[in-house]
Amino acid sequence: MSKEDENQKKNREHYEKLYANYNIRNILSWINNLDAFLASATTTDTSWFAMYQRNFRKRIKGKRVLEMGCGDCVNAAVMAALGAEVFANDIAAASGEIVKKLNASYDFKYPIVFVEGDFLKNKLPSASFDFVVGKAFLHHLTLPVEKLFLKETARLLTSEGEARFFEPAVNSQILDALRWHIPVKGRPSKFHRTAFNKWKENDPHPDRTFSSKHFEKAGREFFKEVETIPVGTLERFSRFMQGGKTRNKYRRWALNFEKQLPSSWNKPLTRSQLILYKNPK
Ligand SMILES: C[S@@+](CC[C@H](N)C(=O)[O-])C[C@H]1O[C@@H](n2cnc3c(N)ncnc32)[C@H](O)[C@@H]1O
Repeated sequence: MSKEDENQKKNREHYEKLYANYNIRNILSWINNLDAFLASATTTDTSWFAMYQRNFRKRIKGKRVLEMGCGDCVNAAVMAALGAEVFANDIAAASGEIVKKLNASYDFKYPIVFVEGDFLKNKLPSASFDFVVGKAFLHHLTLPVEKLFLKETARLLTSEGEARFFEPAVNSQILDALRWHIPVKGRPSKFHRTAFNKWKENDPHPDRTFSSKHFEKAGREFFKEVETIPVGTLERFSRFMQGGKTRNKYRRWALNFEKQLPSSWNKPLTRSQLILYKNPK
């Protein structure tokens, strides 16, 4: 089996298990209280803060949006509840089951369309989307497959369309080495070699770069406008804080304050990024 097929199989198996029999109760409660949910998520959570920057919430209303790697479908449901016409794809069929349950339980103006299976084999019409988005998705692809997804993104977007991807960022070798040695929930430290290697065998992330430079170069092949926006330079320290309220207060402050840091600090130290691709070639 090729490296690419092996990676896809690993992702499919991992996420089929994770999303099997998923309970949509939380999603329904969030989309039924959309203003409160977004007020909290977009000010305290890096992925929501990043993805909803620059008026995304208002700009998607009535627009056609494609979400790649929709996973648990929280974002797909929020975008649909905001009035977007959402198409969602994931390699895991379990995401399609979540979409079915959501459409049956909420009166979306446009029910979510699940695009089943291997996205690259699903030839949707050219220039048919205003937005293509992905949250923590691209870094699950090997580099050759990512290239095919970016090419397809450029083909699917209208000339005024925009792609936004929220991804982890590793721009400093030292921080990267440090990161692997600090254990996080579910992932042992590299100091514990046996446990780490065992964890790595089941990890659905291929070994690849997440650097902003990489995403800028990869995007320039298919888009005239490319931008990466660092998110999480100061917010990353919130993981050492106890107590939800204090942590969220710090996160709100950090996510706003770090925007003012000079790019020469922000880029190497950031932990994640919003990648914007516009003007398909
Ligand atoms: C880290 S999860 C993110 C899920 C969701 N976007 C979120 O923010 O929670 C990555 C998702 O990408 C999906 N994925 C991985 N490889 C894929 C592929 N080749 N095509 C489509 N989806 C893929 C996985 O099944 C998984 O649902």
